[in-house]
Amino acid sequence: MKHSSRIKNYFDSAEASIIPLDDAFVPSTEQLKQIVTICNSEPNYSMLFKEKKGAKPYTAEDAAGFISWAQRGWSGSEYFVFLILEDGRIAGAVDIKSASKDASEIGYWSNPDRKGFMTAAVTDLCSIARSMGYQKLYALVRTHNSKSANVLERAGFVRDNESVVKDGSDYFRYSKQI
Ligand SMILES: CC(C)(COP(=O)(O)OP(=O)(O)OC[C@H]1O[C@@H](n2cnc3c(N)ncnc32)[C@H](O)[C@@H]1OP(=O)(O)O)[C@@H](O)C(=O)NCCC(=O)NCCS
Repeated sequence: MKHSSRIKNYFDSAEASIIPLDDAFVPSTEQLKQIVTICNSEPNYSMLFKEKKGAKPYTAEDAAGFISWAQRGWSGSEYFVFLILEDGRIAGAVDIKSASKDASEIGYWSNPDRKGFMTAAVTDLCSIARSMGYQKLYALVRTHNSKSANVLERAGFVRDNESVVKDGSDYFRYSKQI
């Protein structure tokens, strides 16, 4: 069963939908442009794309690749990406990164022009994941990414005492039994 739900912005109570980024989603040219702008903007570019892209900009091809990668995840039931859409405008994305029901990593990015949806989106992702049969979710957060840590703490995730090293960077692991 596919899930879609409504969340509210913390600052202005505007509503957005969380929808599966599966084959049913056909992005408009405007939405592809929005993804490019969001992924090139800070803190998204530094936190998520700079290393992968070798410091080159995130392109329209990257955005199209992201859409088809997300759709493959749903069609193979391997990983599950959701978009946060406000009147069709992209406010962010959240994902469940594996099909491991005992514990899966999650991830997310938001439109820096549309802050205030992410805590609600991650909280909602926990309910969605529970209804899909997941028991626990966790996130790996760079130790200096306090904005991301804030989201997880507000959504009820708890930080491990020790940091972990991944690909040469230090991360905190936050997890929640759902
Ligand atoms: C991390 C990230 C997603 C946070 O997005 P966001 O839109 O700022 O997050 P939220 O909507 O939850 O919160 C925005 C502000 O709303 C307020 N807020 C939101 N929900 C709130 C709540 N329930 N109670 C109180 N304040 C709240 C806070 O002031 C918060 O700012 P703060 O964290 O500085 O205190 C965003 O910075 C981002 O995309 N970063 C780059 C990608 C990234 O790091 N991804 C995570 C990798 S682990």
